[in-house]
Amino acid sequence: MTVAGVKNICVVGAGNMGHQIALSAAIAGYKVKTTDVNQEILQKAEQFVEKYLPDRVAKGKMSEEVAQAARSNISFTMSLEEAAKDADLVIEAVIEKLDIKHTLFRQLDEICPPHAILATNSSFIVSSKIAPVTKRPDKVCNMHFFNPALVMKLVEVVKGPHVSDETANTVMEVCKSMDKVPVLLKKEIYGFLVNRILAAINKEAFYLYDMGVAAYEDIDTAVVYGLGHPMGPFRLMDLTGIDLAYYIDTERYQETGDPANKPSPIVVEKFVKGEWGQKSGKGFYDYSKK
Ligand SMILES: NC(=O)c1ccc[n+]([C@@H]2O[C@H](COP(=O)([O-])OP(=O)(O)OC[C@H]3O[C@@H](n4cnc5c(N)ncnc54)[C@H](O)[C@@H]3O)[C@@H](O)[C@H]2O)c1
Repeated sequence: MTVAGVKNICVVGAGNMGHQIALSAAIAGYKVKTTDVNQEILQKAEQFVEKYLPDRVAKGKMSEEVAQAARSNISFTMSLEEAAKDADLVIEAVIEKLDIKHTLFRQLDEICPPHAILATNSSFIVSSKIAPVTKRPDKVCNMHFFNPALVMKLVEVVKGPHVSDETANTVMEVCKSMDKVPVLLKKEIYGFLVNRILAAINKEAFYLYDMGVAAYEDIDTAVVYGLGHPMGPFRLMDLTGIDLAYYIDTERYQETGDPANKPSPIVVEKFVKGEWGQKSGKGFYDYSKK
């Protein structure tokens, strides 16, 4: 299937990433069905759409026509079957746990039409770990958006050894049609491009914090004003989710057995306390007053 064949997109998982990926696709003109197992999250996603589109129009950043079309292009349902049954492309954005993704991709493989591409937005799980649970491994690939997905242009498209040229090309073209800037990884590698670079920065930031060299606020300040990054590693982790950092490091540690991959003690502490960042109102920083 070429990009011209992609009309209906299903986004599974309406959390941090999913609701914005879904809306980006709806703004680009795709018919998007968004689904989640958590009704509250799904309602929040719909409320977000209802606020975001008029806000953009009011700010003069989007025409009324585009906003109305986007609103009618996007729908929300708790039923995976309903969301995925006529999808040409599925973008999965559920929690970063391999067993959950396996169960989901098995279901999607049953529900979706045979031509449908099943993409994962996973930050670290390469699609060759997911593809074998389906009967269409050539159509299962990584399509990695960045947070916040409505703003961030980059998408990493990863062509694992099982992914067909056609699938990779179609996903690249879909990204471009969504006004994104896709890059193609010709090989699967853990963490892809950006998260590998980010992991190196985070590791050093945690080391400096654990050694008592500086407070995490000051480490963030140093990165912002010394390196010109829009935010430091601790604030970024609040945005992306400390729970996500915990799951990623834990899974990597279980996989490799390398203690260097263990989550940092401060991440474990925050995870256990439920201080997961912006989504929980507190992480390294306090968001309760916003
Ligand atoms: N947070 C980030 O900055 C970021 C960036 C890029 C990629 N990712 C990746 O995106 C994925 C989602 O991350 P997130 O931060 O949006 O997580 P999140 O916890 O905010 O959202 C995940 C959503 O998936 C839902 N869910 C769980 N199991 C489900 C199922 N079987 N069917 C339908 N919905 C289900 C949950 O209810 C939740 O609403 C992960 O794979 C993560 O690695 C995250």
